[in-house]
Amino acid sequence: MTKTWFITGTSTGFGKELARLLAQKDDVNLVATARKPEQLSYLDEFDHGQILKLKLDITNQEEIQKAVKTTLDIFGSIDVLVNNAGIGYFGTFEESKRETVQYMFDVNVWGLVDMTRAVLPTMRKQNEGVIINFSSIGGLYSFSTLSFYHGTKYAVEGLSESLAKEVAHKNIQVLIIEPSGFRTDWAGRSSDKDYQQFTDFITPNENDAGHEAGDPIKAAEIIYDQVTNNPQLPLHLPLGTFATDTAINKYSKQLAEFKELHDLSASADVPEN
Ligand SMILES: NC(=O)c1ccc[n+]([C@@H]2O[C@H](COP(=O)([O-])OP(=O)(O)OC[C@H]3O[C@@H](n4cnc5c(N)ncnc54)[C@H](OP(=O)(O)O)[C@@H]3O)[C@@H](O)[C@H]2O)c1
Repeated sequence: MTKTWFITGTSTGFGKELARLLAQKDDVNLVATARKPEQLSYLDEFDHGQILKLKLDITNQEEIQKAVKTTLDIFGSIDVLVNNAGIGYFGTFEESKRETVQYMFDVNVWGLVDMTRAVLPTMRKQNEGVIINFSSIGGLYSFSTLSFYHGTKYAVEGLSESLAKEVAHKNIQVLIIEPSGFRTDWAGRSSDKDYQQFTDFITPNENDAGHEAGDPIKAAEIIYDQVTNNPQLPLHLPLGTFATDTAINKYSKQLAEFKELHDLSASADVPEN
């Protein structure tokens, strides 16, 4: 059965590679969105009427409503929503600029929230759907100079986990993608940088832009394969060796610590009568 995939931020990076892959699948209607739709001409060679290219800035509520309506008018459903669009910001906790941080929250958190809320009524009616939220290994583990980026991605984690519980009975699944460094535009043009004093803390991510270990083409293949062939999607999917190793190390250590602290923690309860 043909599924309609709706993706945000398909001009470059993960969004572009996923759109390019889906454009070649017989069982997909593709809604590729971008702030500048003229950047989506790479899809033209695959278009035989199953591709819709729409202008969408996810911080613009009107554009969100319009894009969802146009999709439903043309394809009649939205089966998979990919909240991919996102930006970064390198700077220490003390030096980061409030306006820049607030805008990043508007994109990474509120854009994803508004997009999801716009699509959920359709998925509820369909009694089916998949919501793919791009978090990051930075939604599970924190580095220096990325505190506010982590703030956005930890927010995506919490929102997604709660949402998954609220919509599971409607056969709507949530898949959180947690990549480590991938060769996209994220660490380059998509991330502002503010360092004045604390340059010792510059993270490897910034200097490694363009040399990251992760391949976004492989990420796209994994995501398509999971959604198409795995009826019970995982809630969390770290992508890349560094992401999966970091997640395993963090949670193994944290589990050991929680166990060690168990009796102390439990001693805070009111004693049972
Ligand atoms: N690459 C990595 O190492 C990495 C690791 C972990 C997580 N991620 C996450 O992966 C997701 C995709 O990023 P990427 O790595 O593919 O980077 P990318 O190549 O820079 O792509 C980011 C995409 O988001 C779009 N975008 C930015 N602001 C937008 C807005 N207000 N409305 C609509 N679209 C907007 C960009 O569009 P424009 O062309 O208009 O700017 C671009 O298409 C992000 O959520 C990012 O946080 C990336």
